[in-house]
Amino acid sequence: MERSIERAAKDLAGSGYAIALTGAGISTESGIRDFRGPSGVWTKDPEAERRAYLSYQRFLDDPKAWWRESVTAARILGDLDKAEPNPGHYSLAELERLAVLKCVITQNIDALHEKAGTKSLLEYHGSVSKLRCVSCGSRFSRAGFSLEKMIEEDRLPPRCPQCHGVIKSDTVFFGEAIPGDVAHRSLEEAERCDLMLICGTSAVVFPFANLPRIARQRRGVTIIEVNAEPTPLTEERVSDYLIQGKTGEILPEIVKAVKNIRG
Ligand code: APR
Repeated sequence: MERSIERAAKDLAGSGYAIALTGAGISTESGIRDFRGPSGVWTKDPEAERRAYLSYQRFLDDPKAWWRESVTAARILGDLDKAEPNPGHYSLAELERLAVLKCVITQNIDALHEKAGTKSLLEYHGSVSKLRCVSCGSRFSRAGFSLEKMIEEDRLPPRCPQCHGVIKSDTVFFGEAIPGDVAHRSLEEAERCDLMLICGTSAVVFPFANLPRIARQRRGVTIIEVNAEPTPLTEERVSDYLIQGKTGEILPEIVKAVKNIRG
């Protein structure tokens, strides 16, 4: 483990444009369950995953009913507002402050990278703290909308102040296209990086899981996984090496080693 942490620190310190990709695994040490790990939400309740696949069609069929349901329904990941970043999130923010990491592309909707201070952030599957207009794509802070009041006054679904289009949660549903701005920027980052640090993802959901494969096509790119278990990226040798363990323990060690190299 020590040797691979030293190796990752050397690779990061010597990189010209390193980016990080993250998944639910980086947030489990903040008390937020992942999906496919041993006690993941889908692992424990496959029915919940099947229901999740129907959510987008339900929204398209009847946005008003979807909103009425979603405002009252308990969130499958629990109350994310109370979750705090853990050393894994803070480590990536620190690597950005050290000008080593140029961007974080996360699948997580929990806004913990933002809370930890990461500035250059792409929320590939959206954010639970935002809403988005399905017509013009404008995003709004969820805090700016009193959804309970809208239910009482029968004013659902919320409408876009810009174009009056229907507003949905910014989180991307299964079957929904990744918003064009985020998809485009993420592709640019994957095509530009010379190091990709992939933290806490099973890498089985597309198109996000294409990003490491796009980077792999270019010579001179180092792809490092930090994950509790091997993934298809490990098995298919898309990643150069896996540092197996907890992101909350490994990433701070990598930051320490990068600082030692930097002097
Ligand atoms: N440190 C490192 N790895 C961890 C940790 C940890 N503390 N905790 C869990 N893991 C690993 C798990 O073993 C698993 O391999 O992180 C990975 C999490 O994988 P998933 O649960 O599949 O989460 P993710 O890859 O983000 O899922 C992608 O699927 O359901 C959709 O939209 C949802 O964005 C999500 C997408």
